[in-house]
Amino acid sequence: MATALCPGSFDPVTNGHIDIISRTARHFDDVIVAVIRNPQKAQSLFTLEERQEMLREVTSHLPNVRIDFFMGLLVEFAKDHGANAIVKGLRAVSDFDYELQMAQMNQQLSGIDTFFISTSPQYSFLSSSLVREVAKYGGDVSSMVPPTVAKRLDERFKA
Ligand code: PNS
Repeated sequence: MATALCPGSFDPVTNGHIDIISRTARHFDDVIVAVIRNPQKAQSLFTLEERQEMLREVTSHLPNVRIDFFMGLLVEFAKDHGANAIVKGLRAVSDFDYELQMAQMNQQLSGIDTFFISTSPQYSFLSSSLVREVAKYGGDVSSMVPPTVAKRLDERFKA
C-alpha cells in the first residue's frame, strides 16, 4: 500500500488544493490530507474543525482520500500513519526554495521523500491567504474556492 500525505494549513481549502489532492489520489492507494492544528502564520480564519469539515465536504467524491490533523513534526505524523510519501504542489519558482528546504529536512529526519506536483496553470496565482484577503474586502472568490467554502467565507466576513 502506498500512502501519500498532503499537508497544509488549508485556511481555507482552495481549488488549487483540490487539484493537487485529486491528482495525488490517482497515483497512490491512500491519501491522507493532514491539516496542521496551529498554523505558524497569523491566527487562522477558520478553526481546525472547520478547515477539516470543508476538506471532507470537497473531497467526498474521492474514496481513497481521508482528512486528519497533526501537531508538531509532520514526519512524526507520517511515521505513525504509515505514510510513504509527502506530496506538495508547486505553483511557481517562488515556492521552490522553501519547499526544497522542507523536503530535504523531512528526508533527513525520517527518510520519507517528498514528491512535487506542478499546479495546474489556472491555479498558479491562488493561495489561501489571498483568497482570505479578497473575500474580506467583498471580492468575488467563486472561481477560486468550492461553493461551500465561498459560502463560509461570506458568512465569516458578514458576521
Ligand atoms: O499550507 P501551508 O501553511 O503552506 O503548510 C505548511 C506545512 C503545514 C506543510 C508546514 O509548515 C509543515 O510541515 N509544518 C509542520 C512542522 C514541521 O514538520 N516542520 C519541519 C519541516 S521542515
